[in-house]
Amino acid sequence: MTAEVSYQDYLRVDELLALQRPFTAHGDGGGVGETGHTALSEHFFIICHQTCELWLKQILADLSAVVGAFSTMRPADLERAVDLLYRVGGLLRLLHEQLVVLEQLDVEDFAQFRQFLGSASGAQSAQFHELERMLGNASRSGTLYTAFERGVERTGGTVAKIVEAGAEAGTEHRLVEGLLHVGNGFLRWKVGHVGLTSRMLGGSPGTGGSSGVAYLVDRASLPFGELRRLRGRTHERVAASGVTAEGDIPSTD
Ligand code: HEM
Repeated sequence: MTAEVSYQDYLRVDELLALQRPFTAHGDGGGVGETGHTALSEHFFIICHQTCELWLKQILADLSAVVGAFSTMRPADLERAVDLLYRVGGLLRLLHEQLVVLEQLDVEDFAQFRQFLGSASGAQSAQFHELERMLGNASRSGTLYTAFERGVERTGGTVAKIVEAGAEAGTEHRLVEGLLHVGNGFLRWKVGHVGLTSRMLGGSPGTGGSSGVAYLVDRASLPFGELRRLRGRTHERVAASGVTAEGDIPSTD
Protein backbone atom coordinates (compact mmCIF):
# COMPACT_ATOMS: atom_id res chain seq x y z
CA MET A 1 0.00 0.00 0.00
CA THR A 2 1.37 3.46 -0.90
CA ALA A 3 1.69 5.99 1.90
CA GLU A 4 -0.69 8.96 1.84
CA VAL A 5 1.00 11.87 -0.01
CA SER A 6 -0.20 15.41 0.60
CA TYR A 7 -0.37 18.21 -1.98
CA GLN A 8 2.30 20.02 0.01
CA ASP A 9 4.68 17.04 -0.09
CA TYR A 10 4.03 15.94 -3.64
CA LEU A 11 4.74 19.41 -5.07
CA ARG A 12 7.38 20.31 -2.48
CA VAL A 13 5.52 23.54 -1.94
CA ASP A 14 7.50 24.59 1.14
CA GLU A 15 10.82 24.29 -0.69
CA LEU A 16 9.42 26.05 -3.73
CA LEU A 17 8.05 29.00 -1.77
CA ALA A 18 11.30 29.39 0.16
CA LEU A 19 13.17 30.19 -3.06
CA GLN A 20 12.12 33.85 -3.40
CA ARG A 21 14.51 35.99 -1.42
CA PRO A 22 14.38 39.66 -2.47
CA PHE A 23 17.55 41.51 -1.41
CA THR A 24 15.46 44.52 -0.44
CA ALA A 25 13.33 42.44 1.96
CA HIS A 26 16.23 40.69 3.70
CA GLY A 27 18.16 43.82 4.44
CA ASP A 28 21.06 42.59 2.29
CA GLY A 29 20.66 45.79 0.34
CA GLY A 30 22.73 47.82 2.72
CA GLY A 31 19.83 50.08 3.59
CA VAL A 32 19.03 51.11 0.00
CA GLY A 33 15.41 50.85 -1.10
CA GLU A 34 14.38 48.74 1.88
CA THR A 35 10.72 49.63 1.69
CA GLY A 36 7.85 47.17 1.56
CA HIS A 37 6.89 48.35 -1.89
CA THR A 38 10.36 47.87 -3.37
CA ALA A 39 10.61 44.39 -1.85
CA LEU A 40 7.20 43.52 -3.32
CA SER A 41 8.40 44.64 -6.76
CA GLU A 42 11.59 42.63 -6.44
CA HIS A 43 9.55 39.60 -5.34
CA PHE A 44 7.43 40.00 -8.51
CA PHE A 45 10.62 40.28 -10.64
CA ILE A 46 12.10 37.11 -9.09
CA ILE A 47 8.89 35.08 -9.54
CA CYS A 48 8.62 36.13 -13.21
CA HIS A 49 12.17 34.88 -13.85
CA GLN A 50 11.83 31.69 -11.81
CA THR A 51 8.59 30.65 -13.49
CA CYS A 52 10.19 31.40 -16.85
CA GLU A 53 13.02 28.96 -15.99
CA LEU A 54 10.47 26.33 -14.87
CA TRP A 55 8.53 26.56 -18.14
CA LEU A 56 11.80 26.48 -20.08
CA LYS A 57 12.55 23.19 -18.34
CA GLN A 58 9.24 21.76 -19.59
CA ILE A 59 9.79 23.20 -23.09
CA LEU A 60 13.24 21.59 -23.36
CA ALA A 61 11.91 18.25 -22.11
CA ASP A 62 9.04 18.37 -24.64
CA LEU A 63 11.37 19.29 -27.51
CA SER A 64 13.78 16.48 -26.52
CA ALA A 65 10.85 14.06 -26.82
CA VAL A 66 10.14 15.50 -30.29
CA VAL A 67 13.79 14.87 -31.27
CA GLY A 68 13.32 11.31 -29.95
CA ALA A 69 10.30 10.89 -32.25
CA PHE A 70 12.41 12.05 -35.21
CA SER A 71 14.92 9.31 -34.39
CA THR A 72 12.25 6.54 -34.56
CA MET A 73 9.91 8.10 -37.17
CA ARG A 74 7.18 5.72 -35.94
CA PRO A 75 3.75 7.10 -36.93
CA ALA A 76 2.46 7.10 -33.32
CA ASP A 77 5.61 8.89 -32.10
CA LEU A 78 5.25 11.50 -34.83
CA GLU A 79 1.59 12.13 -33.93
CA ARG A 80 2.63 12.69 -30.31
CA ALA A 81 5.40 14.99 -31.56
CA VAL A 82 2.77 17.15 -33.31
CA ASP A 83 0.89 17.47 -29.99
CA LEU A 84 4.10 18.33 -28.16
CA LEU A 85 5.08 21.02 -30.68
CA TYR A 86 1.68 22.67 -30.19
CA ARG A 87 2.07 22.39 -26.41
CA VAL A 88 5.46 24.11 -26.65
CA GLY A 89 3.81 26.81 -28.78
CA GLY A 90 1.26 27.28 -25.97
CA LEU A 91 4.00 27.51 -23.34
CA LEU A 92 5.88 30.12 -25.38
CA ARG A 93 2.64 32.12 -25.55
CA LEU A 94 2.40 31.84 -21.76
CA LEU A 95 5.99 33.09 -21.41
CA HIS A 96 5.19 36.00 -23.69
CA GLU A 97 2.13 36.87 -21.57
CA GLN A 98 4.38 36.80 -18.50
CA LEU A 99 6.60 39.45 -20.05
CA VAL A 100 3.56 41.60 -20.74
CA VAL A 101 2.55 41.33 -17.06
CA LEU A 102 6.12 42.20 -16.02
CA GLU A 103 5.61 45.53 -17.80
CA GLN A 104 3.66 46.38 -14.62
CA LEU A 105 6.93 46.40 -12.66
CA ASP A 106 7.33 49.77 -10.94
CA VAL A 107 10.31 51.35 -12.72
CA GLU A 108 11.34 53.39 -9.64
CA ASP A 109 11.48 50.19 -7.57
CA PHE A 110 13.35 48.41 -10.36
CA ALA A 111 15.93 51.22 -10.38
CA GLN A 112 16.26 50.73 -6.59
CA PHE A 113 16.89 46.97 -6.53
CA ARG A 114 18.66 46.62 -9.92
CA GLN A 115 22.06 47.34 -8.34
CA PHE A 116 21.78 44.06 -6.40
CA LEU A 117 21.67 42.08 -9.63
CA GLY A 118 25.35 42.89 -10.22
CA SER A 119 26.20 41.49 -13.65
CA ALA A 120 23.42 38.86 -13.46
CA SER A 121 21.41 38.84 -16.69
CA GLY A 122 18.90 36.69 -18.56
CA ALA A 123 21.66 36.38 -21.17
CA GLN A 124 23.29 33.87 -18.75
CA SER A 125 20.28 31.54 -18.77
CA ALA A 126 21.69 28.10 -19.68
CA GLN A 127 18.22 26.77 -20.53
CA PHE A 128 17.55 29.67 -22.86
CA HIS A 129 20.84 28.97 -24.69
CA GLU A 130 19.88 25.32 -24.98
CA LEU A 131 16.54 26.36 -26.50
CA GLU A 132 18.35 28.57 -29.02
CA ARG A 133 20.62 25.66 -29.99
CA MET A 134 17.52 23.53 -30.57
CA LEU A 135 15.60 26.11 -32.58
CA GLY A 136 18.45 27.74 -34.52
CA ASN A 137 17.94 31.07 -36.26
CA ALA A 138 17.41 32.54 -39.73
CA SER A 139 20.84 31.49 -41.01
CA ARG A 140 21.65 28.37 -38.94
CA SER A 141 19.51 25.26 -38.50
CA GLY A 142 19.03 24.12 -34.90
CA THR A 143 19.29 20.54 -33.63
CA LEU A 144 15.49 20.12 -33.81
CA TYR A 145 15.28 20.90 -37.52
CA THR A 146 18.39 18.82 -38.31
CA ALA A 147 16.84 15.82 -36.49
CA PHE A 148 13.61 16.30 -38.50
CA GLU A 149 15.51 16.57 -41.82
CA ARG A 150 17.51 13.40 -41.08
CA GLY A 151 14.45 11.47 -39.91
CA VAL A 152 12.59 12.38 -43.10
CA GLU A 153 15.59 11.44 -45.25
CA ARG A 154 15.82 8.04 -43.54
CA THR A 155 12.26 7.35 -44.67
CA GLY A 156 13.25 8.21 -48.25
CA GLY A 157 11.70 11.70 -48.37
CA THR A 158 12.87 15.29 -48.15
CA VAL A 159 11.48 18.26 -46.26
CA ALA A 160 11.12 20.07 -49.62
CA LYS A 161 8.76 17.34 -50.86
CA ILE A 162 6.70 17.51 -47.64
CA VAL A 163 6.32 21.27 -47.97
CA GLU A 164 5.39 20.89 -51.62
CA ALA A 165 2.78 18.20 -50.84
CA GLY A 166 1.15 20.39 -48.16
CA ALA A 167 -1.83 18.72 -46.41
CA GLU A 168 -1.35 15.62 -48.61
CA ALA A 169 1.76 14.84 -46.51
CA GLY A 170 -0.45 14.21 -43.43
CA THR A 171 1.43 13.99 -40.13
CA GLU A 172 4.66 15.29 -41.66
CA HIS A 173 2.80 18.36 -42.90
CA ARG A 174 1.47 18.94 -39.37
CA LEU A 175 5.03 18.60 -38.04
CA VAL A 176 6.19 21.35 -40.41
CA GLU A 177 3.32 23.55 -39.23
CA GLY A 178 4.13 22.70 -35.59
CA LEU A 179 7.79 23.63 -36.01
CA LEU A 180 6.82 27.00 -37.50
CA HIS A 181 4.29 27.48 -34.69
CA VAL A 182 7.12 27.03 -32.16
CA GLY A 183 9.48 29.26 -34.18
CA ASN A 184 6.97 32.11 -34.33
CA GLY A 185 6.17 31.69 -30.62
CA PHE A 186 9.86 32.08 -29.86
CA LEU A 187 10.11 35.21 -31.99
CA ARG A 188 7.00 36.61 -30.25
CA TRP A 189 8.75 36.11 -26.90
CA LYS A 190 11.87 37.88 -28.17
CA VAL A 191 9.90 40.84 -29.50
CA GLY A 192 7.91 41.04 -26.23
CA HIS A 193 11.20 41.03 -24.31
CA VAL A 194 12.48 43.94 -26.42
CA GLY A 195 9.25 45.85 -25.62
CA LEU A 196 9.58 45.16 -21.91
CA THR A 197 13.28 46.08 -21.88
CA SER A 198 12.68 49.32 -23.73
CA ARG A 199 9.91 50.21 -21.25
CA MET A 200 12.14 49.44 -18.24
CA LEU A 201 15.52 50.68 -19.47
CA GLY A 202 14.94 53.15 -22.30
CA GLY A 203 18.43 53.55 -23.74
CA SER A 204 20.37 52.29 -20.67
CA PRO A 205 22.73 49.30 -20.99
CA GLY A 206 21.89 45.83 -19.64
CA THR A 207 23.29 44.34 -16.43
CA GLY A 208 25.00 41.72 -18.64
CA GLY A 209 27.06 44.46 -20.28
CA SER A 210 25.21 44.75 -23.60
CA SER A 211 23.86 47.99 -25.11
CA GLY A 212 20.37 46.81 -24.04
CA VAL A 213 17.49 47.30 -26.50
CA ALA A 214 19.64 47.65 -29.65
CA TYR A 215 21.49 44.43 -28.79
CA LEU A 216 18.24 42.54 -28.23
CA VAL A 217 16.73 43.82 -31.49
CA ASP A 218 19.77 42.41 -33.36
CA ARG A 219 19.29 39.03 -31.64
CA ALA A 220 15.61 38.71 -32.56
CA SER A 221 16.10 36.34 -35.49
CA LEU A 222 13.49 33.95 -36.96
CA PRO A 223 14.15 30.25 -36.27
CA PHE A 224 13.68 27.61 -39.00
CA GLY A 225 15.11 29.77 -41.80
CA GLU A 226 15.39 26.77 -44.15
CA LEU A 227 11.76 25.79 -43.62
CA ARG A 228 10.63 29.34 -44.30
CA ARG A 229 12.68 29.44 -47.53
CA LEU A 230 11.12 26.16 -48.68
CA ARG A 231 7.62 27.48 -47.98
CA GLY A 232 8.41 30.73 -49.76
CA ARG A 233 8.90 28.69 -52.95
CA THR A 234 5.16 27.88 -52.88
CA HIS A 235 4.50 31.28 -54.44
CA GLU A 236 6.83 30.59 -57.40
CA ARG A 237 5.30 27.11 -57.84
CA VAL A 238 1.72 28.39 -57.79
CA ALA A 239 2.59 31.27 -60.16
CA ALA A 240 4.34 28.82 -62.54
CA SER A 241 1.37 26.42 -62.53
CA GLY A 242 -0.87 29.24 -63.78
CA VAL A 243 -3.72 28.55 -61.31
CA THR A 244 -6.12 31.49 -61.24
CA ALA A 245 -8.31 32.65 -58.39
CA GLU A 246 -11.37 31.64 -60.43
CA GLY A 247 -10.04 28.09 -60.55
CA ASP A 248 -9.68 27.96 -56.75
CA ILE A 249 -13.25 28.87 -55.78
CA PRO A 250 -16.05 27.15 -57.70
CA SER A 251 -18.43 29.65 -59.25
CA THR A 252 -22.03 29.60 -57.91
CA ASP A 253 -23.51 30.88 -61.22
C1 HEM B 1 12.59 44.12 -16.09
C2 HEM B 1 12.66 43.06 -16.83
C3 HEM B 1 13.79 42.76 -17.78
C4 HEM B 1 14.77 43.55 -18.30
C5 HEM B 1 14.96 45.06 -18.08
C6 HEM B 1 15.62 42.72 -19.11
C7 HEM B 1 16.73 43.20 -19.79
C8 HEM B 1 17.58 42.43 -20.56
C9 HEM B 1 18.73 42.90 -21.29
C10 HEM B 1 19.19 44.35 -21.36
C11 HEM B 1 19.30 41.84 -21.89
C12 HEM B 1 20.56 41.86 -22.77
C13 HEM B 1 21.76 41.32 -22.03
C14 HEM B 1 22.24 42.27 -20.95
O1 HEM B 1 23.01 43.19 -21.24
O2 HEM B 1 21.84 42.08 -19.78
C15 HEM B 1 18.49 40.68 -21.57
C16 HEM B 1 18.72 39.42 -22.04
C17 HEM B 1 17.93 38.33 -21.77
N1 HEM B 1 16.88 38.30 -20.87
FE1 HEM B 1 16.00 39.86 -20.02
N2 HEM B 1 15.14 41.46 -19.09
C18 HEM B 1 14.04 41.41 -18.29
C19 HEM B 1 13.25 40.30 -17.99
C20 HEM B 1 13.50 39.03 -18.43
C21 HEM B 1 12.73 37.85 -18.07
C22 HEM B 1 11.46 37.81 -17.22
C23 HEM B 1 13.34 36.80 -18.65
C24 HEM B 1 12.92 35.38 -18.53
C25 HEM B 1 13.73 34.48 -18.02
C26 HEM B 1 14.50 37.30 -19.36
C27 HEM B 1 15.37 36.53 -20.08
C28 HEM B 1 16.39 37.02 -20.85
C29 HEM B 1 17.13 36.20 -21.79
C30 HEM B 1 16.89 34.73 -22.06
C31 HEM B 1 18.09 37.03 -22.37
C32 HEM B 1 19.06 36.67 -23.48
C33 HEM B 1 18.35 37.11 -24.79
C34 HEM B 1 19.13 36.89 -26.06
O3 HEM B 1 20.33 36.59 -26.00
O4 HEM B 1 18.53 37.08 -27.14
N3 HEM B 1 14.56 38.64 -19.21
N4 HEM B 1 17.47 41.06 -20.76
